Amino acid sequence: MRTGVWLVGARGSVATTSIVGALALRAGLTGPTGCVTELPEVRGPALPAFADLVLGGHDVVATPLAKRAEELAAAGVLPGRLVAALTEELAAVERELRPAPTGGTQADRAAALVRDLTDFRERHGLARVVVVNVSATEPAPRPHPAHADPAALRAALTGPDEVLPPSSLYAYAAVTAGCPYVDFTPSTGLRLPALTALADEHRVPYAGNDGKTGETLVKSVLAPMFAMRHLAVRSWSGINLLGGGDGANLADPDANAAKVRSKQRVLGETLGYLPQGGTRIEYVEEMGDFKTAWDLVTFAGFLGTGMRLEFTWHGCDSALAAPLVLDLARLTAAAHAAGHTGPLTDLAFFFKDPLGTTTHSLADQWTRLCDLARQLHEGGADAPRR
Ligand SMILES: NC(=O)c1ccc[n+]([C@@H]2O[C@H](COP(=O)([O-])OP(=O)(O)OC[C@H]3O[C@@H](n4cnc5c(N)ncnc54)[C@H](O)[C@@H]3O)[C@@H](O)[C@H]2O)c1
Repeated sequence: MRTGVWLVGARGSVATTSIVGALALRAGLTGPTGCVTELPEVRGPALPAFADLVLGGHDVVATPLAKRAEELAAAGVLPGRLVAALTEELAAVERELRPAPTGGTQADRAAALVRDLTDFRERHGLARVVVVNVSATEPAPRPHPAHADPAALRAALTGPDEVLPPSSLYAYAAVTAGCPYVDFTPSTGLRLPALTALADEHRVPYAGNDGKTGETLVKSVLAPMFAMRHLAVRSWSGINLLGGGDGANLADPDANAAKVRSKQRVLGETLGYLPQGGTRIEYVEEMGDFKTAWDLVTFAGFLGTGMRLEFTWHGCDSALAAPLVLDLARLTAAAHAAGHTGPLTDLAFFFKDPLGTTTHSLADQWTRLCDLARQLHEGGADAPRR
């Protein structure tokens, strides 16, 4: 099952690490550490093999992929020996990258995106193409009446206004081209009524939002523990220090607000109440693609006795995210092949702000992921289709 993986933001840190990782796995130069789809509970015949993934994508910058990979190697994000060994393979992916269309109306740009996607699918004889958004986080868009309905949206896109934020224009193009769409970012993407209706019309599945790779991953394990032991969480405060392109982009207060909202959801929905405190994100250029998160939790036990928990997470964001991007592409492709449409709620395991479900506990999400994988591998007989 040759499957396309089309990365929006294809020259960014997460995308480049995903591309080098997929090529290295295909060449047998690395193992699948970090890839959830290679665990015994999830792997199986329904998933496209790493060797069957064909990579392409869009970006607004033209920095050569090999240069981005060398920069990431110099920063310690990925091994330099892989970049050297994969020169030809990286050049082949480079030929599949396209500039983000500019000029004209949003309808013109969407048509150009659809052409790039369908050309890619036809050029490589692909069974399907999964579009994965790993581009820069956007601020929340201003509401527009055309966000409510596909026909109004199609009409509005032909006018002079910027009706959709970029992530949503890519989502529009993806579903119009019949491609499943995954949003690894907190951006709006497909989360507009007009776009979910359009996805239903085109019978494509979608998943998101915002990959869960660090502080929120730890929260989604610890918060259920407090709830299950009936301990009262009084405050939960966190600070994240990060550099890299993502950190620089999150220095923008509006993009920062979108990310912080996505990171806080897990507490309210797992505990059933919101403790005091919040999450802060600060850009520290020197940290590059590495991130440090400090969290302080104060809680009360029996007879009101006060206690505290602190944790520190030092993560390499792109190395944590890239295997999940490949996992999501493989699982979403298998779900599309099995006839799933609508939000893939069983992929909540991967996201900070999962679509279509309020299940935030990692353990519950894991059970649902394993059930989905089993259904897909057994032929999808019991698969919940919409
Ligand atoms: N790394 C993680 O652990 C993690 C976790 C969750 C979410 N994310 C999200 O993944 C995204 C990517 O992170 P990153 O570290 O690779 O960032 P990055 O800044 O390195 O890469 C973003 C890429 O998107 C491109 N881009 C910007 N606007 C675009 C547009 N309109 N069309 C096409 N391309 C565009 C940029 O040129 C850049 O190459 C961010 O939104 C981040 O919040 C990352």
